[in-house]
Amino acid sequence: MKKILITGANTGLGKECARQLALRDGIEKIYLACRNNEKAEASKAELEKSTGKAIFEIILMDVSNLESVRRAVQALSEPVDALVMNAGGLGGTEFLQHTQDGVTQITASNLLGHVLLTDELLDQSKLTGTALYAGSEGARGAPKIGIPKPTLSSGSVEEFTSICDGSSFGPISDPMSPYCMVKLMGALWMASMARKHPDMRFVTVSPGHTGGTQVAEDMPAIKKFFFKNVGFTILPLFGLAHGLQDGCRRYVDVLTGDQYKSGVFYGSEAKVLTGPLVDQSAIFDAFNNEAFQDNADTAIHGFIH
Ligand SMILES: NC(=O)c1ccc[n+]([C@@H]2O[C@H](COP(=O)([O-])OP(=O)(O)OC[C@H]3O[C@@H](n4cnc5c(N)ncnc54)[C@H](OP(=O)(O)O)[C@@H]3O)[C@@H](O)[C@H]2O)c1
Repeated sequence: MKKILITGANTGLGKECARQLALRDGIEKIYLACRNNEKAEASKAELEKSTGKAIFEIILMDVSNLESVRRAVQALSEPVDALVMNAGGLGGTEFLQHTQDGVTQITASNLLGHVLLTDELLDQSKLTGTALYAGSEGARGAPKIGIPKPTLSSGSVEEFTSICDGSSFGPISDPMSPYCMVKLMGALWMASMARKHPDMRFVTVSPGHTGGTQVAEDMPAIKKFFFKNVGFTILPLFGLAHGLQDGCRRYVDVLTGDQYKSGVFYGSEAKVLTGPLVDQSAIFDAFNNEAFQDNADTAIHGFIH
């Protein structure tokens, strides 16, 4: 692995991933795919300083905008060995608002753009090795921090379509439920891709509940207060949160470790959100359901024109 493209690389886990990878031997180029040029330039300058390496290149890409994704792939002048689909989060304050492609913001930034990005890279022979998708234990539920196990009623294309366009959610102010459903779909889509492309590696991995990122910024006020001021002090004592370097090390372990198998979603053991990586289908068997995987793949592709 010499060349890597990371989405959402200007802060949080994406930027830390760029830093940790740059410090490894043999890494020649890291593409920082970001939507904001100013933030990307600041991140590039900081990374160059902290690693002493001049191997970073900015690619402007808003993953919630399909045209932007197409332009960025077109502009990429060489294949990459690994793709880290890290951009995303809670979708901003208008997380259920539709984009011009008919999906919610939270779907667009976590999933739709990454689906097109992967398709375009493969079509143009610009991805040769591993595709890593940033999953979340929320996709199998994390009751200890108040996230129930998501329920799929039929796992049909129609159900997944209603998750993408937001019609399966009522008027809600907390993005957590659509976030978990979209991350669940992401893991299913990746497993479907793994079966379609047995010569490549498609691995979903959750960084675990990770502090030191901007993700809480989009939470409703009370939750945000809890997470920023209380959560990351107390939760680590119970294995329910860890720091940025630990969260990001999971990405790097998956990228560099052959033991992490294509099509599998790796995350924390059942009762924690940190620690060793385990196959999440042992906790929620929906991840192994091939019909669900293919239906999620069909539903999300229904929004790409
Ligand atoms: N932190 C956790 O506990 C945790 C747990 C499980 C999974 N994850 C996942 O890990 C990933 C990284 O999260 P984080 O905690 O590092 O959050 P973060 O600090 O908020 O970073 C998110 C990154 O994604 C970028 N991004 C968001 N929407 C984008 C778009 N439409 N186009 C391009 N870039 C976009 C952001 O760019 P801007 O700066 O321009 O907004 C930022 O660089 C996310 O997919 C998240 O769901 C995080």
